[in-house]
Formats: sequence, C-alpha cells, structure tokens
Amino acid sequence: MVKGDNINDIIDHKLFSEDDIHEMCVRLGAQLTKDYAGKRPLVVGALKGAIYFLTDLTRQMDVAHQLDFLDVSSYGDGFESTGKIKVVTDLAADVKDRDVLIIEDIVDTGLTLKFMKDLIKKRGAKSVKCCAMLNKEARRNVDVDVDYFGSKVGNEFVVGYGLDFLNMYRNLPYVGVLKPEVIQKYVNK
Ligand code: XMP
Ligand code: MG
Repeated sequence: MVKGDNINDIIDHKLFSEDDIHEMCVRLGAQLTKDYAGKRPLVVGALKGAIYFLTDLTRQMDVAHQLDFLDVSSYGDGFESTGKIKVVTDLAADVKDRDVLIIEDIVDTGLTLKFMKDLIKKRGAKSVKCCAMLNKEARRNVDVDVDYFGSKVGNEFVVGYGLDFLNMYRNLPYVGVLKPEVIQKYVNK
C-alpha cells in the first residue's frame, strides 16, 4: 500500500541530500558572482519547480539583481512531455537590453528551456543564460545550452526540492527517486 500523504514514504532512494544541494548552491553562487560582476542581471525563476533552488542559490550570489518569474507549461499529465509549450504566466519585467539568468529545477528534453530562451531573446535581451539544479543530458532532443548546472542526473523520474509528481512532493528537502508503485497508483486513473 502506498501512503500517499507521508512524503518520506514515497521515495525509493535519495539521490541528492540537503548537504549535496547546499554544496551545489555554494559552488554555483560563487561562479555566478564572478560571471555577473558589474552587471545587474534579471533572475527569472521558472515556475513552479525552480523556486526552492532559486531562493537558496540567489542567497549565495553576491550580485545585485532583480527577480521575476515565468510559468510555461510543457508537461501535460505531470510526467510525460507533451512537446507543446505555452506561456501560463508571463514575466512582469521588460527584458530588453537586460542580462537574463533563467533558473530551472531540471532540464530534460530541453524543449522548455529552448522555448524560454527564444522568447526572451526575441524580446531583445542582451544575454540569456540558464542555471539549472539538474541536467538530464541523455534525454536532450533540442540544441540548447544549460550554461550552469548543479549535477547531471540519469533517466530517472526525480522529485523533491521543487521537483514534482502531479504537482506534489515539491517540499521534500532532498531530491529522490519515486517508488514505482507511487507512479502506478496515479497513472491511467
Ligand atoms: P523539458 O523536457 O522541456 O522538461 O526539458 C523540463 C521540465 O520538465 C519537468 N521534468 C521533471 N520534473 N522530475 C520532475 O519532477 C523529473 O524527473 C523531471 N524531468 C523533467 C520539469 O518541470 C522541467 O522544468
Ligand atoms: Mg515540473
């Protein structure tokens, strides 16, 4: 039986602990501090998955920046890409002539990131880069640069620290692999 309400019971095994994620934030924060020195980037959080990573990462960046959010949808049923992407909630800021840094939880096929980068470039940004917590590189099927990332990850469905299954489990403080029976419980229902 799956105890769906107790989030620690739905994890098969941990992939990245809270300490692992903290180390990623410290390392990436130091790199971004160097690379954005003298600039005032617009940091764009990709809703909703990136918010946990964004709040920890930006607090490791010694760079004055402004914050905005963009919500685009790519995953129709929660864990299979539909390939169709649309803007759900647009940016509030004007990106023209700005150095834009997109923060993502995970880049998988790359479709979502390519859509966001193209949209922001088309609106006249000076530069558009991405910092993702995780990079599922083996699944990439479009040509898009993940300029910074915390770690590569294999072809497993991961949840926690912002990553969701059916919009649940984002609040796990670590990243783990879901038990197959949890996926079975919800798929085809
Ligand atoms: P694409 O394929 O467009 O997908 O690069 C990017 C978005 O897909 C979601 N995604 C995942 N979410 N566990 C999740 O919780 C995963 O293993 C996973 N793989 C992809 C994620 O929202 C990301 O922004
Ligand atoms: Mg997601």
